Order: sequence, then C-alpha cells, then structure tokens
Amino acid sequence: MAEVIFDADERLWLLTTATTSYALRLDDSDVPKHVYWGPALTIGQVASIKVPVLSKISSVDGITDEELLVEGGSRFDAPSLQVKFSDGTRAFEWKYVDHTVDDGHLAIRFTDRHYPLEVVLHYRIGAGTDVIERWTTLRHTGADDPITLLRTDSASWFLPYRSGYQVTHTIGGWASEFRTQETPVPYGETVFTSRRGTSSHQANPFLFVHAGDEVWSGALAWSGSWRITLRHTANGQTSFTGGFGHEGLSWRLNPGEEWETPVFAGLYSADGLEAASRRWHAYVRNHVLPHADETRPVVYNSWEATEFDVNVTNQKNLAARAAELGCELFVMDDGWFGGRTHDAAGLGDWTVNLSRFPGGLNPLIAEVHRLGMRFGLWVEPEMVNPDSELYRRHPDWVMHMPNRTRTTMRNQLVLNFARTDVAEWAHKWLDQLVGQHEIDFLKWDMNRSFSEAGWPAGADQDRLWLDHVRHVYAIIDRLRADHPGLRIEACSGGGGRIDLGMLARTDQAWISDNTDALQRIDIQRGYSLIYPARTMSAWVTDSPNPFTGRAVPLAFRFHVAMAGVLGIGGNLLNWSSSDLAEARELLSQYKEIRHVVQHGVQYQLSAGPVTGVQYVLGKEVVVLLWRPTVNFGLPQLPVRLKALDPAARYSTGSAEYDGAVLLHHGFEPALPAGDYASAMLHFTEVTPS
Ligand code: DGJ
Repeated sequence: MAEVIFDADERLWLLTTATTSYALRLDDSDVPKHVYWGPALTIGQVASIKVPVLSKISSVDGITDEELLVEGGSRFDAPSLQVKFSDGTRAFEWKYVDHTVDDGHLAIRFTDRHYPLEVVLHYRIGAGTDVIERWTTLRHTGADDPITLLRTDSASWFLPYRSGYQVTHTIGGWASEFRTQETPVPYGETVFTSRRGTSSHQANPFLFVHAGDEVWSGALAWSGSWRITLRHTANGQTSFTGGFGHEGLSWRLNPGEEWETPVFAGLYSADGLEAASRRWHAYVRNHVLPHADETRPVVYNSWEATEFDVNVTNQKNLAARAAELGCELFVMDDGWFGGRTHDAAGLGDWTVNLSRFPGGLNPLIAEVHRLGMRFGLWVEPEMVNPDSELYRRHPDWVMHMPNRTRTTMRNQLVLNFARTDVAEWAHKWLDQLVGQHEIDFLKWDMNRSFSEAGWPAGADQDRLWLDHVRHVYAIIDRLRADHPGLRIEACSGGGGRIDLGMLARTDQAWISDNTDALQRIDIQRGYSLIYPARTMSAWVTDSPNPFTGRAVPLAFRFHVAMAGVLGIGGNLLNWSSSDLAEARELLSQYKEIRHVVQHGVQYQLSAGPVTGVQYVLGKEVVVLLWRPTVNFGLPQLPVRLKALDPAARYSTGSAEYDGAVLLHHGFEPALPAGDYASAMLHFTEVTPS
C-alpha cells in the first residue's frame, strides 16, 4: 500500500511501499535527516528512532546522514548538492517551507536561509512496488545574479549499519557490456561514472549494495553522463548519492529558472540479489516501459549479413528467407542513405541512396509488408561523418571548441542536439521519414562518446551535456506521440545507452554487438540484474561467430537468444537447408513460449556445468539450459527449479513431475552429448487426475 504519513509533532515523514518503509525527519535546524530504510515499520516505531547513531559516536565527525548531503557547515563527505552564489558564498542552509502529498508523491520544500534558492526533495512510491523514485528540483527565486550549480544529485540513499556490505554492479566496453562485478564495499568514496555523454558501455547507472539477503539498490533514469558515489565512512556509515553530469561541469541557474534532476530510483528488499532483480523487472514493466503489455515480435536484422552493402535485391532476398523462418519484423540496418557505403561517409545525409534503392524505400517496404512482416529501419540521428553534405553545410552543428581538434571516433562527430535548430532538423527528417513511409520500427543507434563537448555560441556551455539528452528524449517522445504505432529499439553501438531513462521511451534494447552465444550468456545475465527479458533483444547469428570465431551449434545459439526477445541476425542466404529447417522449428517453439519469457518472472538456474534461466507465468514454466562444455568425471547434477507449487504436478508433455521433486531434488535434463549442449523445456502445471 503506497502511503505517506506526516507526524507534525515529530516533523517526521513515513513512506510506506508495498512491503517496506522509508522515513526522514527535520532536525532542530530544519536539516532533513535520514531515519530509516528497510522492512515495514509503523509511524510510532520510526518515531522512536530519535537519535542519529553517529551523533553518539562523535560530534566532530560532522553531519553525514542528510537526505541530500549539501556542501557546507560540518559536512565533509562527497556532496550531493554543491552551489555557489554570486558573492562567492558556497553551501546551502536548509529552511523548511512546507510539503505536499499527492497520490504517493511527497514534495518537501526548503529555501536557503539567506540566498534566493529553493530546493524541493521529491519522493514518489511506485504503486504496487517497493521502488521509491527520488529527484530534486531547484528554483532561483531572486531577480539578480545567476547561481552556479556545481553538483545537483537527484538523491542520497542511506543504508543502515551492517557489517560486510558488498556492491554488485556491471563493467564493460564495446561488445563486452554488462560484466557483473561483486566486491566488498571499500572504505572511502567509490565513484561509478560515465563522462561520455551516454550512460555508457563501461558502467551502467545502477548498483546493488547488500549484506546477507538484504539489498539496497539504486538506478538512475538518465541517458547521458552520470555519477554515483558510494560512500563508506571510517565509522561504518554507508550511502550512495547519484545524479546526472560528471565532475568538473558547472551550470548557471538564472533568476526565475527551475532545475529538475532525473529520477534516482531506490529499492530495499530482504530476499537476496536475484529477488531484488525481479522487483526491478516488475518496476520497469509496470512503471517505466511505454507498452509493457505488448509481446515483442521476432526481428530479422540485416546488419551482420550485409553490413554497409545493402540494396533492394539483397534486402528483399533476406526478407523472403526471414519470412519463411517466421520472423515478424524485418529491420534494414546501416547503409541505405546518402553516401553511406562504408563507415567514413554519408552519416547525416538522410535521403535514400537511389542507386541502391532505385524506387526509394517503398518497394522494399511493400515487399516486407506483403511477406507479412513489419518494417523497421536503422537511424543514427545524433551523428555526422565529416565526409557528408550535412557537415559541409553546417560544420558548426557539431560539438566543438575553438582551437581544439575535432576528435573523430568511428569516423564521426557528434551533432550538438542541445541546439534547438539541430534538434528540430532531426525531428523534422525523422517525422517525415516515418510519416511518408510505412515504417513500423526504428533502431535508434548512437555509436560514439562526446568529445570537445562545446558550443562556442552557447550561453551556458556545460548545459550541452544535459540538453543534448533532453532533446533526444523530446524527439523520441514527440515521434511516439505523433506516430502511435511506431516502436523503437534503443541501441548505442550495442548496450552503450540503456538505462531507465531510455527504456521509458523505447520498446526494447540491443544490449551488445557481441553475438557470440557463449559470451552472450554472461552479458544477458548482467543485463538481467536490473532490466527485464522483454526488453532484451537477442539475435541468432552465423557460426563461426564473426567476433570470436567460435563455432556453436544452431540450437545452442537459439536457446541463448530465446531467453529474451528473439531475433535473427545471420546471413540467411548462406544458411544450409537443414539449418533453415531447424531454425524454422526453433523459432516456432519460441513463439509458443515467448509470452512466458517476455511477461513472466525470471529465475536464474545453475547445476554443475549447466546454467540456465527459468520463467514463470501463471501455470506455465519455461526453462532454458546451456552446458557449454563437458568435463569427464564431473557428474551432471539434477537441475532444481524455483518458485513452483510443491503440491502441484508439472508436465512437459512427455514427462510429468511433482513440484516438490522439481524444487527440492530437481530433474535430469536430457542434454545432447558433447560441448554446447542446450535445451528448452516448457512445463505446464497440471491438475492431478
Ligand atoms: C552499431 C550497432 O550496434 C550495430 O547493430 C549496427 O547497427 C551498426 N552500429 C551499424 O553501423
């Protein structure tokens, strides 16, 4: 039950989520102090938590347990809010003004004791979940000089005293995203960040801090640079603060202006890391995704098959094969426009290449639709090749700085979407592209990080880091509103820009360019720490894999990709007839079970050399198992399933089991001999006759 209670005598707020409580209070100086975040307590119980633990330890250690740790006074930890007024005074001094509660949204308003700065702390309970969304708004209430903003985090999250905290997060790089790391929380300040203008391949903006089965986790809804600092003081206090932007940026808040940070969502759960992931999945499904109830189609994507060599003939041929296999959405990737015949030219010139598509895009689109598939197209709106008409016409449209080299990456520069004229140009061609063709789906790519992120004519140049992202959001939001049937895939050279901000306006994500099925198992597992399978686009591609040279049987490749939103990305024109027949069969099996994968609840499985994943939806259970290698002498352990009804019977059609046996002992999967063995099992709960 989502509820906010205010105890006026105690100046204490209690937020009650589905199963947890969160409390804060004002101290005698109006400073908002953190009180509690954990299993449900009553208002009377949190009121009894009066004395901050630290003040008993030492009064000279200073304030640390502030809801949004500001700079100034006796505060010495990494600040969440850092401001500087025009006379050089830094710091913020809290003065409580009032608060409002509206449908689970608590907004507590403060002002500075001297300067014209208002700060509002926002808390919103995600109905039916234990997730609390927090963000902060600032307002310049004066008429004179601007205020300099040095750091404006969305929230600080404080954890109770526990020993042995661990932190779980992901690291990575291009084609190696979402590698899970679990380490003890070190003393001091640990910074997780992206300075790249995207949420990044290198770190994803979420973390789980846990001790035993208790987990405190946070995820940022922001798709640009970000920073989360995990603070662990010498006397044992643990907290994390996070928000948009990276160190060294500063912004000007002008008189009358309001500043809003993105949401930094927090979740407490008491049943282990995997269960915390499931709670995040439910939150993403119920509160983040735009079309959570839809079932995602099976995509065919042409990238690995034709790369930049697309033309109407090879795309039609691929489409015919894709349709025969049962694909439902055909996406033509890079190379269809301007002089884009390789990665060094044409980006930015969004007119169809008529020598490759003599009649424009419509003949291909019509053919794809005739074959019964939807049509999707690759775009990379934020980028330009120096060798393009667009760049020759508008060299000032890219991010740049006077007297600095314009650094290219993948032969491209980043358009400055903070400029409204550039953002409007992008919206216009995208709107026309979608409006004038029957385009059902866009794959929105973004292949490089920001550099020389300047705008010589811009009034407040560091705003570029924020306004670029906001304008990307605004364009996508507008396209979706004007073309309600349009669906969008988030892509940034694979998983370089996946976060709650992007997922709020896209339907699925391309999580890595690495399509090697073996490596994909770990990438998918890391992704699943927080994001649900129904957003996880996963293709079956050719063997040997173009990235690793590894040869993997078709069934294994399918069974790995079936753990998310299945797609095909191989060159179907080269597949043998037996591969095509097997693929058709596996794809049709996926269609039988995908509602369970995409809408069910996910559990991770492990039994000796076998790992896998299980999904449960109502009376249906889908199990995908993978055994990459066999080691003689190591027994195959029974695979124990999770979250079944011990009193029920479960049938795969060919075998029947007691729920209790599957839970407590497990079953022996009939995996083929040899390496890269895999299986998909579909159990249904049956009523004993
Ligand atoms: C990077 C993407 O991740 C790939 O799937 C593909 O779309 C290429 N860009 C195209 O340039």
